[in-house]
Amino acid sequence: MERTRLRLLEEYHDPLSAGQLDEIGVSEGWRCLDVGAGGGSVTRMLAERVGSTGSVLAVDLDTGLLEALASDRVEVRRHDLMSDQLPPDEFDLVHARLLLMFLSPRLGALDRLIGAARPGGWLALIAPDFTTVALSPASLAWQRVWSRLLDAAMAGGWDPGYGARLYGDLCAAGLADVHADYIGRCYPGGSLPSRLLSLTLERMREQMVRFGAAGYEIDEARQQLENPASTFTPPTSCVARGRRPGRS
Ligand SMILES: C[S@@+](CC[C@H](N)C(=O)[O-])C[C@H]1O[C@@H](n2cnc3c(N)ncnc32)[C@H](O)[C@@H]1O
Repeated sequence: MERTRLRLLEEYHDPLSAGQLDEIGVSEGWRCLDVGAGGGSVTRMLAERVGSTGSVLAVDLDTGLLEALASDRVEVRRHDLMSDQLPPDEFDLVHARLLLMFLSPRLGALDRLIGAARPGGWLALIAPDFTTVALSPASLAWQRVWSRLLDAAMAGGWDPGYGARLYGDLCAAGLADVHADYIGRCYPGGSLPSRLLSLTLERMREQMVRFGAAGYEIDEARQQLENPASTFTPPTSCVARGRRPGRS
C-alpha cells in the first residue's frame, strides 16, 4: 500500500516538478542533488535533462526504491539531511520535494540545502499547505478525522501549513530571484488526490486513533474521499525556487 501511495504522490506532483525544472532551465551538464528522493521520479527527470555530461546525486534516509536508478550519471546515497554532511558549494540545482514540512528545525534543514548549492546555483522546492484541504458534503466523521490527522502530524514534528510559509523562508534566507506559485484546484471524490489522501489516512490510522479518532470514523472519511459524489480540495502546492547569492 505504501508503494501505491508513493506512486500516486509522484503522479500528482510530477507535472508540477516538470514545469518547475523547465522554468529553472535544468539542462545538459548540470550537477543536481535530489534530497529525500523517495521513489525517484524527479531523480529520473533530472537524469534525463542533465544528459551524459551531467550528474545527479539522489539521497534519502531509505534508498530502497532508489538503488535501481544508480547509473553512470546517478549516484544513490543513504543520507540523513539533519545529521549527515552534504558536499558544500557544489550543485547547480538542489531539489527537495515534500520534505521540509516533515523536518524540524525546518530553517536548519533549509540552510543545509542552501549550503550544498554552488554560489548562483538554484534551489527547487515543493511543499504542500494542508490548511486548505476541504471535503464536501461536510460530515462529522470527516471533521473529526481531519482534526486528528493534523494533531498527529504536528505531534510528529510536521508543519502541515508549511507550503504557506516556504516563500517567506526562502526570502528570509537571503536567496536571490525567489519565485513561488501557490497552486490549487478542486476535484471529485475518487480522483487521484482524493485516493492519495485516503491512503494517507490509512497510513496514519494508528497515530490518529491515539489522538482520539475512532476506526469507523476513519473508514467513513476514506469512503467519503473515494465517493465520486463528494468534492475534494487537496492541499495547495507551493512550487518555489530561488538562487544562492553569488556568481551565476
Ligand atoms: C513524502 S516523501 C517525498 C519523496 C519524493 N521527494 C517525492 O516527492 O516523490 C519524503 C521523503 O523524504 C525522506 N526523508 C525524510 N526525512 C529525511 C531526512 N532527514 N533526510 C533525508 N531524507 C528524508 C523520506 O524517506 C521520504 O522518502
